[in-house]
Amino acid sequence: MGIIQAVFGTHSSRQIKKLAPTVAKINALGPKYAAMDDASLKEQTQILKKRLAGGETMDDILPDAFAAVREAAKRVLETPHYDVQLEGGIVLHQGRIAEMKTGEGKTLMATLPAYLNALGGKGVHIVTVNDYLAKRDSEWMGKIYNFLGLSVGLIIHGGTREEKQAAYRADITYGTNNEFGFDYLRDNMVLYKKDLVQRGHAFAIVDEVDSILIDEARTPLIISGEGESSSPLYAAADSFARSLKAFRIKESDEKSFDDELKGDYIIDEKARSAVLTQSGIEKAEKYFHVDNLSDPENATLSHHINQAIRANGIMKRDVDYVVKEGEVVIVDTFTGRLMPGRRYSDGLHQAIEAKEKVEVAKENKTLATITFQNYFRLYGKLSGMTGTALTEEEEFREIYKLDVVEIPTNRPMIRVDNPDRVYKTQAGKYSEII
Ligand SMILES: Nc1ncnc2c1ncn2[C@@H]1O[C@H](COP(=O)(O)OP(=O)(O)OP(=O)(O)O)[C@@H](O)[C@H]1O
Ligand SMILES: [Mg+2]
Repeated sequence: MGIIQAVFGTHSSRQIKKLAPTVAKINALGPKYAAMDDASLKEQTQILKKRLAGGETMDDILPDAFAAVREAAKRVLETPHYDVQLEGGIVLHQGRIAEMKTGEGKTLMATLPAYLNALGGKGVHIVTVNDYLAKRDSEWMGKIYNFLGLSVGLIIHGGTREEKQAAYRADITYGTNNEFGFDYLRDNMVLYKKDLVQRGHAFAIVDEVDSILIDEARTPLIISGEGESSSPLYAAADSFARSLKAFRIKESDEKSFDDELKGDYIIDEKARSAVLTQSGIEKAEKYFHVDNLSDPENATLSHHINQAIRANGIMKRDVDYVVKEGEVVIVDTFTGRLMPGRRYSDGLHQAIEAKEKVEVAKENKTLATITFQNYFRLYGKLSGMTGTALTEEEEFREIYKLDVVEIPTNRPMIRVDNPDRVYKTQAGKYSEII
């Protein structure tokens, strides 16, 4: 591998070499665009659109489009694109993944393919991982697009249908993967065409593409609606769970063979499980007047009891969820943010509602669902950017047929990116930091 790479170069270095003539063309056009006043630079957008309409391809007009965006970036942000950003921009336009080290300017790079593809009139979606980035990037990069006469939209959680439609009508639309996905699901549920908010899936540029397309690939987005009325069993199971004696195995504890005898149910903090012991089962049979809790005909009861002991034994108020205005709201374990509207599945949410003595919601049923993986496959052309994609290169190729190209840094890399270090305990981590 080493020798072959030394002679023929890596996959990425070969791809980058192929881009050199195009980069040279863009650079050669620099003086032409620099000489234009603001008004004629803006006019280029219409001129390029006409060229497309006249039968030229996006690849034909790429050098001019990129040169125009670069000149606009110079005028409004004072940061004209570096050559490596042009390379990355071409890679994105080609529907591939551009791996570019952190801080090298992926946000600005994305304006090049976004502008070029927006000229096609079918909309460009720029997908980020959170609302903050979507807002920041749309405002920051929006200056360039607006200067060139293109419109920019931002879709945010909770916007009205009219606001969303306007944002999707824009030439370039920024938003989070969640919001794009949910808008798609909601569109699948409307009755009239005029109520649709999205207008197709022509081209998407996904920022932090490894986290959205790989880590969250299988996360299902679910829209659920009210089903049957809620069962009184939740409250009954909750009262029963409270009457039990719990035995807790802490994360640091060893399990022992006689744990089974130490309570009515066992909470395993590491596994986040709660299971009735023999004595718990006997108490349940007495409490609910059934002969055999394991009997299939008692499956519903057994399920409610299991969720009740999980709700009481594992789910911690103000850690896993909060109670706000009479509602149980999930706390995201990774970010600590509240996730209003999301519910635990399988009756666990109702069991927590019973535990917290708030109104137990009706059973939910799924009305529409899609995974991120399937959502992003809808796009006619998909591209992505990230600081670290090469580690997942094979998955990108296999699942999405996406090629990964490593873009060189603008200047030689002097920063040392150390790998993450994981500590077994918090105490260990803090003492190391100190
Ligand atoms: N061509 C340029 N000239 C000057 N400054 C630039 C240029 N491109 C980007 N920058 C600056 O570099 C900084 C980092 O940019 P940005 O946040 O887009 O990086 P990134 O590659 O997205 O990093 P991360 O991987 O952390 O998301 C910004 O302050 C931006 O203004
Ligand atoms: Mg970034």
